[in-house]
Amino acid sequence: MQYTTELEATIADVAQPGRGILAADESNPTIAKRFKAIEVESSEDNRRAWRSLLVTAAGLGEYVSGIILFEETLQQQTDAGESIAGSAWRQKIVPGIKVDKGIVALALSEGDTVTQGLDGLAERLRGYREQGARFAKWREVYAVDAHAPTRHGIEVSAEMLARYAAVCQAEGVVPIVEPEVLMDGSHDIERHAEVTEAVQHAVFHALQRHHVVLELIILKPNMVLPGQDRRRAEPDEVAEETLKVLRRTVPPSVPSINFLSGGQDPEEATANLQAINEQAANAPWALSISYGRALQQPALKAWPGEPFNLDAAQDALVKRARLNHLAMRGDYRAELEQD
Ligand code: 13P
Repeated sequence: MQYTTELEATIADVAQPGRGILAADESNPTIAKRFKAIEVESSEDNRRAWRSLLVTAAGLGEYVSGIILFEETLQQQTDAGESIAGSAWRQKIVPGIKVDKGIVALALSEGDTVTQGLDGLAERLRGYREQGARFAKWREVYAVDAHAPTRHGIEVSAEMLARYAAVCQAEGVVPIVEPEVLMDGSHDIERHAEVTEAVQHAVFHALQRHHVVLELIILKPNMVLPGQDRRRAEPDEVAEETLKVLRRTVPPSVPSINFLSGGQDPEEATANLQAINEQAANAPWALSISYGRALQQPALKAWPGEPFNLDAAQDALVKRARLNHLAMRGDYRAELEQD
């Protein structure tokens, strides 16, 4: 492979003990939803101001080693006039880029979805690399009910993730492989575990078929949880079910597992990460985060588009990042939320 040295350097910079990834790559429709909740208009400049606030938060780099950006953000600048990607790297936060183009229904396969965006991916990656991106993200999504996802849906999505990951490695960009089994719905935790296990098996088989080097990927899975319509499970149960599935499916050669938060409350996502790290003291992989909502929500609430709230919003972000850093070390306690 042509770019092994570059890929190894990116893994070394991103997969670091006690540091995680901030997912700030919401597509324009998704960020518009988040802004609507705080009554902020989703204009290009508001989106820029928000992402500028995130990357310039002092001290964030202590706990965050990577940030996933949306295409538009890669061309934008901070309030101080520096590129957002360059500003992140000044804190040793590696800039990355979401490269998928979102999900569509999988034709003729009820209940299944598939992600688009492979056409022209190699050329796009070359452009993103020139703009500073060193890793990429592609998300496949699996809704759960009694029948879905189907075996066929699982295989198709695995193939997409593996083709994407192979193109990334060929272009010198570390792939974040994200198969997200949604927590929406009324399934129990056993059903979520069953689907997550089938999905992860299919993904790793496909990665092997496509010659993807497992030492040079980051896996971004969901935690195993009961459906959102049900009562929450205790962190110890979430940790047990999540680790059981990962131990059955993820080879030890994968350097880092960075969970998505998927709609968990910020405190719940941190408590679950703590339980996972407590139960997996000798796991072969780092057990870290790539949270979007669970890192950004408190900061968004503190901000609502007002420049004079910038410090309060940055403090809220750094606090969440620090608490998750403690959870990665097994040192988080709920009382620390009050500090
Ligand atoms: P959440 O943590 O909000 O699920 O976002 C992570 C992400 O990047 C989803 O693709």
